Amino acid sequence: MDGQDKVRVLFVGEAPGFHEDQQGVPFVGKAGELLTDIIEKGMGLDRREVGIANVLKCRPPENRDPLPAEKRLCTTWLDRQIELADPEVLIALGRHAAGHLLENDSALARLRGRVWLRDGRKVIATYHPAYLLRSPSEKKECWKDIQIAMTELGLSPPSRGR
Ligand code: URA
Repeated sequence: MDGQDKVRVLFVGEAPGFHEDQQGVPFVGKAGELLTDIIEKGMGLDRREVGIANVLKCRPPENRDPLPAEKRLCTTWLDRQIELADPEVLIALGRHAAGHLLENDSALARLRGRVWLRDGRKVIATYHPAYLLRSPSEKKECWKDIQIAMTELGLSPPSRGR
């Protein structure tokens, strides 16, 4: 997990990729650069003041999708990370994180765009940054989800031109 002991917002991704596996830090590759932009340019926060974790703690071979059994095995770790970081808002990145956190198999399109509650914490689901790199036209939909999260956190977007 990346971030401080306690955070107001915790992003949850799917699993480490090649670069994350090498460095032991989530979201440091291309998708991580986009996530950092969302956090810093979009939300006006420093990446160091949010938490970033993954559902899976190890990289699946050939970056394949996580298996249900793998998600189950890693649940204790993620649950403990959430408990320790104690965020008000969880932002689930992509269908694996959203489905896992919300225990809901629906398509991401049905899970995003609203606030859910999980053990008293707010959960907002949005597209995975790797998907946004492949489908940049969906960035505006992601921005809508991020704005929902920002409203819950009482944040306003940074002023432009800084
Ligand atoms: N994708 C993820 O879901 N997590 C990472 O840490 C990197 C890429």
